Amino acid sequence: FRGLVAETSARSTKRPLEKQIVIGRGADMRTLLVRVGAVRADDEITGFVVTFDDVSDLLSAQRKAAWADVARRIAHEIKNPLTPIQLSAERLRRRYLKQVVDDRQIFQSCIDTIIRQVESIGQMVDEFSQFARMPSPVFRRENLSDLCRQAVFLHRGSHTHIVYDVAIPDPALYASCDGRQISQSITNLLLNAADAIEGRLGDDLPVGRIALRLRTDGGEITIVVEDNGVGLPVHDRDSLTEPYVTSREAGTGLGLAIVRKIMEDHKGRLLLEDAENGGARVSLVLPERAVENDPAVPQEGERGQIYGA
Ligand SMILES: Nc1ncnc2c1ncn2[C@@H]1O[C@H](COP(=O)(O)OP(=O)(O)O)[C@@H](O)[C@H]1O
Ligand SMILES: [Mg+2]
Repeated sequence: FRGLVAETSARSTKRPLEKQIVIGRGADMRTLLVRVGAVRADDEITGFVVTFDDVSDLLSAQRKAAWADVARRIAHEIKNPLTPIQLSAERLRRRYLKQVVDDRQIFQSCIDTIIRQVESIGQMVDEFSQFARMPSPVFRRENLSDLCRQAVFLHRGSHTHIVYDVAIPDPALYASCDGRQISQSITNLLLNAADAIEGRLGDDLPVGRIALRLRTDGGEITIVVEDNGVGLPVHDRDSLTEPYVTSREAGTGLGLAIVRKIMEDHKGRLLLEDAENGGARVSLVLPERAVENDPAVPQEGERGQIYGA
């Protein structure tokens, strides 16, 4: 700071000197725009006028916008060639698997690797572009029971070695929410659960299980995804929902960040807990005003309690 004043004194122009300085410690850093102007009388400096502007939020908003744009473009460019790669690999397998006589095992496992990896690139890119885009939710009356069933159905198909248990009450549960975003959230939780199961080490592991439960106590609606995977990390659990925080080698760290944002937009909550069996229990809690079992009740109205995320 003394340097700034000295620099200002040395300048002959009247314009104030402008610099960005970063202050604070650890996670609490702020960027200040400092202007130092010298007050002169007859070429003598009689004092200084110093102003500080906190521009941290402005800078972070600019960075986010720029990043969102880049992410969208890259996602688009990467996604385009993925489908033809995947289709070609599948076609090679269909056409030539029977004709391959030597090392059929290798042929099969190479093709499987290509298909699996392409799928995971696609998923990563999806997460990036969702995170960058993240539109505001469009609230409609949605059948949550169906949303849950469909999400699990899709996962069963692609994770055949995992046993999915589903507990969904009858009759169907309805809520006022953005169906696409809630499906996305459930999917992200199911993906994490499958990742946690695949991340287990050792032989003789028990069969991987993922349980999805949907319930309401008449007030809030809760969707719980529980797994018997590696369990949530012990340290820094609060940071898991921040973007780019991941403990997985191929992770983006965006899955839970997306879910948290969606829950915030729904005035709901995201809970991360340990399951009794050592795995993770992750819950989405939708607030009371989202509950909408009786179609005769109008969905807009007074706002319910607001829950922190
Ligand atoms: N079901 C789960 N079991 C164990 N750890 C989990 C689970 N879900 C999330 N996590 C932890 O939270 C981190 C962040 O998750 P996420 O935001 O989806 O990013 P990513 O899956 O790309 O790592 C994961 O890397 C993992 O450490
Ligand atoms: Mg994830």
